[in-house]
Amino acid sequence: MASYLFLCLFLFFPHLYASFSSSGSHSCSSLIQFKDSFSINQKRMLIYCCSWDGVTCDHLNAHVIALDLSCCWLYGNFPSNTTLFLLPHLQKLNLAYNDFNLSKIPSEFSRFTSLFYLNLSYTEFAGEVPSQVSHLSLSLAGCGLQGKFPKNIFDLPSLNLLNLLDNQLSGQIPRSLGNHLQLTHLDLSWNQLSGQIPLSILNLTQLEYLRIAGNTLEGSIPDEVTAFPNLIYLGLSDNLFNGTLPSWLYTAPSLKRIILSQNQFSGHIKEFQSKSLEMILLKNNKLQGPLPSSIFQLLNLTYLSLPNNLSGVRVIEFSMFSNLPNLKYLDLSYNSLSLTSNSTSRLKSLERLDLSCNKIEGKIPQWMQEVGNVSLTYLNVSHNSLTEVEYFPWKNIEFLDLSSNLIRGNLPIPASTINVFLISNNSFTGEVSSLICNASSLQILDLSHNNLSGTIPQCFGNLSDSLEFLNLKKNKFYGTIPTTFAKGCQLTTFNLNGNLLEGPLTPSILNCNDLEVLDLGNNKINDTFPHWLGSLPQLQVLVLKSNHMHGSLRINSSKSIPFFSKIQIFDLSSNYFSGPLPVRYINSFKAIINLEKIGSTVSYMGVNDPRSGFYTYSIGIVMKGQYMELVKIFTMWMIIDLSNNQFEGGIPKVIGKLTLLKGLNLSHNNLNGGIPTSIGNLTSLEWLDLSSNRLSGTIPNRLADLPFLSSFNVSENKLHGQIPQGKQFNTFGNDSYQGNKGLCGFPVSKGCNIIEPAPPNVLEKDGSKSNITFGWKVVLIGYGCGVVFGMSVGYVVFKTGKPKWLVNLVEIQHEKKRRRKSKDGSHSNGRRRI
Ligand SMILES: *[C@@H]1O[C@H](CO)[C@@H](O)[C@H](O)[C@H]1NC(C)=O
Ligand SMILES: *[C@@H]1O[C@H](CO)[C@@H](O)[C@H](O)[C@H]1NC(C)=O
Ligand SMILES: *[C@@H]1O[C@H](CO)[C@@H](O)[C@H](O)[C@H]1NC(C)=O
Ligand SMILES: *[C@@H]1O[C@H](CO)[C@@H](O)[C@H](O)[C@H]1NC(C)=O
Ligand SMILES: *[C@@H]1O[C@H](CO)[C@@H](O)[C@H](O)[C@H]1NC(C)=O
Ligand SMILES: *[C@@H]1O[C@H](CO)[C@@H](O)[C@H](O)[C@H]1NC(C)=O
Ligand SMILES: *[C@@H]1O[C@H](CO)[C@@H](O)[C@H](O)[C@H]1NC(C)=O
Ligand SMILES: *[C@@H]1O[C@H](CO)[C@@H](O)[C@H](O)[C@H]1NC(C)=O
Ligand SMILES: *[C@@H]1O[C@H](CO)[C@@H](O)[C@H](O)[C@H]1NC(C)=O
Ligand SMILES: *[C@@H]1O[C@H](CO)[C@@H](O)[C@H](O)[C@H]1NC(C)=O
Ligand SMILES: *[C@@H]1O[C@H](CO)[C@@H](O)[C@H](O)[C@H]1NC(C)=O
Ligand SMILES: *[C@@H]1O[C@H](CO)[C@@H](O)[C@H](O)[C@H]1NC(C)=O
Repeated sequence: MASYLFLCLFLFFPHLYASFSSSGSHSCSSLIQFKDSFSINQKRMLIYCCSWDGVTCDHLNAHVIALDLSCCWLYGNFPSNTTLFLLPHLQKLNLAYNDFNLSKIPSEFSRFTSLFYLNLSYTEFAGEVPSQVSHLSLSLAGCGLQGKFPKNIFDLPSLNLLNLLDNQLSGQIPRSLGNHLQLTHLDLSWNQLSGQIPLSILNLTQLEYLRIAGNTLEGSIPDEVTAFPNLIYLGLSDNLFNGTLPSWLYTAPSLKRIILSQNQFSGHIKEFQSKSLEMILLKNNKLQGPLPSSIFQLLNLTYLSLPNNLSGVRVIEFSMFSNLPNLKYLDLSYNSLSLTSNSTSRLKSLERLDLSCNKIEGKIPQWMQEVGNVSLTYLNVSHNSLTEVEYFPWKNIEFLDLSSNLIRGNLPIPASTINVFLISNNSFTGEVSSLICNASSLQILDLSHNNLSGTIPQCFGNLSDSLEFLNLKKNKFYGTIPTTFAKGCQLTTFNLNGNLLEGPLTPSILNCNDLEVLDLGNNKINDTFPHWLGSLPQLQVLVLKSNHMHGSLRINSSKSIPFFSKIQIFDLSSNYFSGPLPVRYINSFKAIINLEKIGSTVSYMGVNDPRSGFYTYSIGIVMKGQYMELVKIFTMWMIIDLSNNQFEGGIPKVIGKLTLLKGLNLSHNNLNGGIPTSIGNLTSLEWLDLSSNRLSGTIPNRLADLPFLSSFNVSENKLHGQIPQGKQFNTFGNDSYQGNKGLCGFPVSKGCNIIEPAPPNVLEKDGSKSNITFGWKVVLIGYGCGVVFGMSVGYVVFKTGKPKWLVNLVEIQHEKKRRRKSKDGSHSNGRRRI
């Protein structure tokens, strides 16, 4: 197949190929002829994408000397016999942003004896850099290059540009780097380089651009006062560099950008002598104050982020920044600063101001109101101690984060330019003005954990063509849920948990086709189950718990529409639902059955906003008998909680299909019949609560095979017979079984009336006979799994409550010791008593 669009040209057009190779002149006229043949060709993609402005010819002898095929959408393996190599006079070749399907870089590139610029950025070339191409000025960004850093890349001294950004190179940077006296541009960022930067780098006096961000380089930066006289850009962020900042940083005369965030630099920041600085980013280091006064004389300074925890600096006089007419970005977050201002601070260019995690107290100060009142688009004052805000004066604000302060009073409405408005964890009171609906670009609105009351503005349903994330959790809103959601609604998360809402929820929410999380828990909704929610194609989390919902979950429709096929968390607990368990739904929970691929590439559910970052969903859920506030929802969490209702009838066998289920809670219902053996198929299950029903029969032995089960409760039922033994079951206590008069065997005190066959004699290591059964070995295997389990849930971030599995692990250790003891002493294990 000619699916290899590789180098558009030659492969598809043999006649042209002939003219190229036979004439040997590789003239521009041929190329132009070639270009013309394209426009009449059906290979549309190439016509759209290949810029024929990309061909440069030498006018004297009509040789093609530069070829730019970047962004051609070429795809396929890169053949080493390509006729491209028959253009020997090529000096510059750019193949960036094509996809060569992880083929190797052919050594034939060495035939381009005149080539000095080769750009293979983001071409999906892979493997090692062949030595034959190392005399070039290379751009191999994002190529998937692997292996040790290619030492030979520095064999020839003519290299002036080297870009290996975003590969997977490892090892140390070779000392031979210093041989490249002509090097002006060096980018080794986002690889896996380790060790120190070689001292020889100080010999690269021509360097203008030096970027080695995003590796694990350590040690201090080579220092020499006169180093890098031509350096303009220095990017060393996201490494493990330590020691003091090098002295040349303060003196390099051309330096404009310094990016050293996310390292371990320590010591004081000294005075900057170069006045050309435009960017100084020092966040996340261990640097100390005081703040050098020279910063306030850098008239071209545009971006400034101070280290967090800048010890020794407690108060900053904000009006000092007014001296910096070009300042656009100022990040003073994560300090213990209180800011003062003795004069009005009009920073006319300021666009982004981050003051989060400081000690700013009281009313929003006047200077903050005036700062960038026209220019400011981002203001983050979260995690301070503000108590009062009258209005928001910023005319063009897009991101406003006031969360986690102590603000009381009515909620002012920001300018209608707002995109992201976060005020959670304050004490705002009163109603929310429907003026907020003028914000036609509002994307994320988080008013959660306040004391807001009144009804939810109906217009929230029409805000929808931009609103993705609406969180009103834990307020005092009452009345109805907005009854109309406009067509094209973009909501992905809608959280009304913990209010006084009476509902109802109307089917117009089906206009929100992308809805992933719907949490109406802890309200006063008196309604039947909104079964039509089942047709929301992306719904992953449905929480209706603790409402006044009632009726059967049975559906009459015989249509086989897809139903809750992406659901992962289904919590209907503490309502008045009745009738049989919803077999029809369970059958269609395709995500939990593992028939539906979980589409997310990130581990947590949330909104990914390219400008403000990743905004995670949170949820409150009962896990293993304890209420937990999950600050992030791990995408693999699959939980069904139907507890505390009036469901009746048996537990359906199909429940055994839900292979990815982690937690199942059917407790406090009127279920009868047996525990289906198929529950033994739920190999991901970590907790199972069937307590307080009328279940009868025995506990299936297969449950003992569930490797991750760490919380098990069947108390208050009518079960009888022997409790399964071994593995995880040795870790459950008496309270898992109480209120079942018929159960016997460990750990309940009642022994089983079964005469077991005498255990085979087992030879101990020391050769002595032992009458300890192999049950003990199984127990130890069980402990091992417990540990595995612990690791498997370790991902989840808990806000409150003690993770039960941790408790379990500790208990297991105790249990282990206790059992060892009893093993040495009397054999009081119920199971073994005859
Ligand atoms: C891409 O590489 C894979 C694996 O080497 C191969 O199977 C596939 O055919 C290649 N595709 C093209 C278009 O060359
Ligand atoms: C390159 O070699 C492959 C076989 O390895 C052949 O099919 C193809 O025609 C050759 N292409 C050119 C342009 O010579
Ligand atoms: C490589 O080419 C791409 C696409 O034309 C361009 O964006 C990039 O700046 C080039 N890299 C270098 C180092 O010239
Ligand atoms: C720098 O170059 C000089 C000579 O060009 C050489 O003597 C010296 O060892 C080099 N320094 C480093 C650190 O490589
Ligand atoms: C810097 O880190 C290295 C290890 O990477 C350590 O040996 C050295 O003592 C550290 N220096 C300072 C000043 O912390
Ligand atoms: C500041 O920027 C201006 C405009 O880019 C430039 O002309 C001037 O030289 C810069 N000042 C310094 C000290 O570099
Ligand atoms: C800030 O500094 C204090 C003491 O100087 C230290 O206890 C604290 O851990 C530091 N915090 C961070 C985030 O570095
Ligand atoms: C404000 O304080 C700064 C620094 O303390 C000082 O330089 C400046 O003169 C003061 N301005 C006024 C108007 O008092
Ligand atoms: C911005 O603040 C300044 C100083 O308080 C004031 O003079 C100006 O009118 C304000 N601009 C707008 C558009 O409100
Ligand atoms: C639901 O509303 C009906 C009719 O208004 C009422 O009879 C019933 O008690 C309510 N149920 C709950 C659980 O509040
Ligand atoms: C505000 O700052 C806090 C703390 O640094 C951060 O977690 C939060 O994401 C920021 N908010 C926005 C909207 O960027
Ligand atoms: C449980 O698994 C066994 C074997 O893997 C299979 O035969 C059986 O049908 C499964 N039961 C259910 C209810 O899925």
